[in-house]
Parts: sequence; C-alpha cells; structure tokens
Amino acid sequence: MLFDPFAGEGISVSQAQVTAASVEFSGVPSHEARRHRPLRIGLFGFGTVGSSVARILVESKPRELELTHVFNRNVARKRVDWTPAGVVWSENADEVLASDVDAVVELVGGLDPAGSWVRRALEAGKSVVTANKKLIAYHGVDLERLAAAKGGHLKFGAAVAGGIPVIPGLEQGMAGDRIEQIKGILNGTCNFILSQMESGAEYETVLATAQARGYAEADPTEDVGGFDARSKLAILMRLALRVQVDPEEIAPRPITTITAVDFSYARDLGCTIRQVARAEQLHGHLAATVGPMLAPLRSPLAWSQGTENMVIVTGHYGGDVVFSGHGAGGHPTAVAVVSDLLALAHGSRRVEIPSAPASIGTEFEVPHYIRFLVADRPGIVAAITGALAEERINIRAIVQKPGYPADALPFVVTVEPCKSSALKRALERVRGMDWMLVEPLDLQMLE
Ligand SMILES: NC(=O)c1ccc[n+]([C@@H]2O[C@H](COP(=O)([O-])OP(=O)(O)OC[C@H]3O[C@@H](n4cnc5c(N)ncnc54)[C@H](OP(=O)(O)O)[C@@H]3O)[C@@H](O)[C@H]2O)c1
Repeated sequence: MLFDPFAGEGISVSQAQVTAASVEFSGVPSHEARRHRPLRIGLFGFGTVGSSVARILVESKPRELELTHVFNRNVARKRVDWTPAGVVWSENADEVLASDVDAVVELVGGLDPAGSWVRRALEAGKSVVTANKKLIAYHGVDLERLAAAKGGHLKFGAAVAGGIPVIPGLEQGMAGDRIEQIKGILNGTCNFILSQMESGAEYETVLATAQARGYAEADPTEDVGGFDARSKLAILMRLALRVQVDPEEIAPRPITTITAVDFSYARDLGCTIRQVARAEQLHGHLAATVGPMLAPLRSPLAWSQGTENMVIVTGHYGGDVVFSGHGAGGHPTAVAVVSDLLALAHGSRRVEIPSAPASIGTEFEVPHYIRFLVADRPGIVAAITGALAEERINIRAIVQKPGYPADALPFVVTVEPCKSSALKRALERVRGMDWMLVEPLDLQMLE
C-alpha cells in the first residue's frame, strides 16, 4: 500500500520507482482539523489566471476558501480594490511561504523561480495548486513524492486543457478503465491558426491575426512548434497510460509546414487538419507524437474551432470518452484551479494511479497523407510508387487537383496503415530527386 490515510503517512521516498500519479489526501492541516475554518490561500502570480482566481473567490465566496495573500513582483501595480481588506499584498515570496497559508496557488508559470517556490511550499507541508504544465511535465513525479512525504498535496487540474476537467476525469471517472489511446487538441493557439486556415488563409496571415488578438506570443515557437502540447501530453500519459515519460523524448512537429494547398487536399479527402497530441499503448508498445494530422470531418477533433481544446480518451473497456471546451483563458482556467482548491478543502480522496518510468517509441501503424511539390515530368509517380512498394506500403489514393503550374505542382499520395519507420525509409529513397522542389510533407491520418 502506498498510502495509509489513517496513519497520516505519505508515499515513502524509498518506494520511488513506482510512485502514485495521485494519492489519497491526508491534508495538513487535515479536513477534520480545519473543520471550523476555511483553507487559507496564498496566490502566487496575479496575471491572467491569478486575477481570475481571485475574482472567482471574491465573487463566489466559497465558505471553505479564504484568499489571505497575493504575491507578485512589483505588486503595487497589481493591487486591486475589490479583494477583501485583510488580503496581504506582497512582493516577498519568503514572507508568504513563511505565513500561515495552507495552500499555495502557483500561477506564475515557467520552471524557475516558480518551481523552487512550489518545492519550498511542499517542504513546509503546505499543499500546492498549479496550472503550470511545464513544471508538472518535467518535475511532477518528484513534486508529488515530496508532497506525499511532507503530508501536503499537489493538484494541477488546470495544467492540461485549462477549464476542461480532463485531469479529474482521468483521475476519477476513468480510473477503472485501462486506457489505450489519447488523442488531443491541447494547444488553443494552433487550433485557432489551423481552424482559420480551413477557409483558405495562409499560415503567416492567420498567425498575425492570432498575435493581434493575444492568442499567440510574439515568439510563437513554443505553441506552433508543438513544445507546449508535448508537455501536456506527457502529463496525460502519466495519468492515462500510467507511464512516466521525459517530455523531451516526444519529438514535436511544427504546424508551420502546412499550407492552404494542404487544406484543399484534406477537404477532398473528407478531412481537415489539426495539431494533435497522440499517445497509445497497444500490445506492450508505447508511442507518442505531436504534430499536424488529418482529422476526418466526422471526427470530434475536426469540430473544434478557434481556441477550443478537445481530448478523446479511449479505454479498453469503456471505449471513447470526449472532453471538450475552453482550454485556455483566465476564467476557464481559474475555474479548474478553484475546483482543485475546493477538492483540497473537502479532503477529497483520489484514486491511486501507479505509474512507472517508460521510454517512448515513435512507431505508429497508421495511414498517411504525403504531399509532394514537384517540377512536373514523366516518371515521378512511378518513382514514388516504386519506393513505397519496396517497403511493402499500399497506396490508397493519388490525388492531383487541376489549376496548379507544372513547374510547382502539388499532388498527394495517401497510403494504407504502415509503420512510420517504413514510410520514412520509402521517402528517403526519393529524397534529393531533381524534380522534388521541397521535402514531402508527411502527415498521419486519424481514423
Ligand atoms: N492564460 C491561460 O489561458 C492559461 C491556461 C492554462 C494554464 N496557464 C498557466 O497558468 C500560469 C499563469 O499563466 P498566466 O496566463 O496567468 O500568466 P501571466 O498573465 O503572465 O501571469 C503571470 C503573473 O506572474 C507574475 N510573475 C512572473 N514572473 C514573476 C516573478 N519572477 N516574480 C514574481 N511574479 C512574477 C507576472 O507579473 P508581471 O505582470 O510583472 O509579468 C504575472 O502577474 C502559467 O503556468 C500558464 O502556463 C495559463
């Protein structure tokens, strides 16, 4: 047994290899000990999400929760007049960590210094609620062990898909299943860009709109490069597939290679294109990837528009469960944070989900869409089909739309399910041919 709620002990650190992704709550102070007073909250970071958390706490006045401290750098410029008079506004993290707050809500973001504040709060036996996906993806296991050893709790329901309760859904509602696959639209910026490109706009134009509306950073690499989504996927893999993986092992592919031509071809194939974070554990083989993929128009993944998020979790027994809604934004994310705080205040008990370290493979056996851009001449299709045949890959369709110039002709080959490695070898055989104008674009097709 990893945890005995009656002994009030956490996971012993010596049991480190196989740890619990979530543990039952003992609470410091316990729910019983706090029966007559609310959970005191120290809010770290008064930005988009932090100020929304404060707003909900002030407006909804949950009797179990009391905002007592707000910490932010240069705090004077952050101070608002709508929080209770007793709230301490501080720019001194040490002061808040040394105070009598029961729970620290970390909404600063990034690995440091936020990570060291979280660690110190847990060391002191306080509980922590955070929306910080990077911190949880890279250090969640260690921090959970620390929390359990010190009698506090770490909750991060807002770290993936913002306001959509996919993490509580995995920890509670689906804990009884054996999850085999996760497919998710986990990055609102990419979803905004790709769903806008559906109507014919090019990437650069839509990115500029996303930046103007505040949906994309000035440097969008973290989002469009797939790095943000892979951190979130690593968290979901721990809870759903019960594997502790290094996010760096998930090779992301950017959405920047997608053009309006690809949407046009995708539509002809009854699909659209979305950035999808995908992981599966089938027949003992673990694989994960993040990148643009073709999603059939009848799939829920294709229905998500704008900054929405969507996650489809497939269980061995229960089949598909779909989570969707607002994956980001101050208020939706703050709802997930406040829900975590309420769960803490109520001493809620979570299902113990053990997980173990694992290595990720990249081998999926799925159909692919391959878009070529060529200077047209006889023999190109024969060269491509020959290369695919050498790897025993069956062609599903060859599609060439009219209206493109012969000296820069895009056309598409779709193939039946094949191993990613076999397709890579086949494309290697035609790489560098003098008719090939750019590297072929190879996208997984979801079915
Ligand atoms: N926004 C969302 O939709 C969303 C969704 C899901 C998860 N999250 C996660 O939620 C967390 C917060 O995101 P956010 O959008 O609220 O960020 P944000 O608007 O940038 O807020 C961060 C706050 O922390 C403060 N801060 C940053 N560095 C600090 C430091 N070294 N010392 C003291 N204060 C510091 C900032 O102060 P300044 O004003 O001085 O910069 C700001 O008030 C992040 O982990 C993010 O990944 C956000």
